[in-house]
Amino acid sequence: MTQLIDTFGRVHNNLRISVTDRCNLRCVYCMPEDVTFLDKSALLTFEEMAAFVRAVAPLGIDKVRLTGGEPLLRRDLHKLVRLIVGTPGIRDVGLTTNGLLLAQQADALFAAGLRRLNVSLDTLDEGRFRELSRRDGLDLVLAGLDAAKRAGFTRIKLNAVAIRGFIEHDAVPLARYCREHGFELRFIEYMPIGADSWEREKVFFAHELLDLLEREVAPLAPAADYDPTAPAMDFEYADGGRVGVIASVSRPFCRNCNRLRLTADGKLRNCLFALDETDVKGLLRAGTLDEAKLAEVVRANVWAKWEGHEINTAKFVKPLRTMHRIGG
Ligand code: 5AD
Ligand code: SF4
Repeated sequence: MTQLIDTFGRVHNNLRISVTDRCNLRCVYCMPEDVTFLDKSALLTFEEMAAFVRAVAPLGIDKVRLTGGEPLLRRDLHKLVRLIVGTPGIRDVGLTTNGLLLAQQADALFAAGLRRLNVSLDTLDEGRFRELSRRDGLDLVLAGLDAAKRAGFTRIKLNAVAIRGFIEHDAVPLARYCREHGFELRFIEYMPIGADSWEREKVFFAHELLDLLEREVAPLAPAADYDPTAPAMDFEYADGGRVGVIASVSRPFCRNCNRLRLTADGKLRNCLFALDETDVKGLLRAGTLDEAKLAEVVRANVWAKWEGHEINTAKFVKPLRTMHRIGG
């Protein structure tokens, strides 16, 4: 049996690699203002990341997403994209970025074979952008989105975190902007993983968003390929275009989770909310890679995966790493 499977029968085919913990924003829901980043020498090199991907592809990993921190802060990220796209068995490579550096890099990323692009954007209002991200840059994100379209990317997705008190103001303008430009908007319920003090009252729930969009934008129906087990529940507007909600809090999708994470400093995490992690940097840095040993370590990490995050129970324990050090 080669598949990566856990004790709940979940088969893992989806790897998320955080390529750096650094970021050029300081989103309040993700990281503190004063943050100490990892020393550059602690980060996996592109060759180490690619070697990891080559080793896990035969175990059934066929989807890879690069995240951060902000992945475009890694110099020449397109080179890593090219290595992963060219790995036998990998059929789908994606990138999640805040978009600030996208205008400069969109062409090189597309040429390297990247086709899936998610851009995080919570608001089209400059003031709220500054309030949420503690930095300026809205104009750069919008320019990045434009450049990505021109570079040839299609079905570009925009991710917005649904925080009560903010998203009510931004959901409708974001939805209209995305419809106008042909982007797919996705709202993610605010999760207790950042530096901020999370409270359930601060989560703007998926069903509230859908109500708001139906009322203010256009009627919605489940998309033709609607998959109730997928993290994102996708809808189609009656007059065309799509929008999705990721109900990570109100409707956890842990039962169908197929994800495994590699942090920028070479730790494996079997869940965003995992409290333990397994080091693989030692193996990746040991000269010739012992692929059989690495496979065994990855298999054991997946096998040890718990049932789910338990955000909705008293048992929930917030992980020590904040989002930017895990990778969204
Ligand atoms: N809750 C929900 N989503 C979050 N992200 C970062 N922190 C949180 C949080 N606390 C999102 C970012 C980005 C993705 C990588 O994760 O907005 O879209
Ligand atoms: Fe940076 Fe993304 Fe975290 Fe915002 S959510 S601070 S853009 S890593």
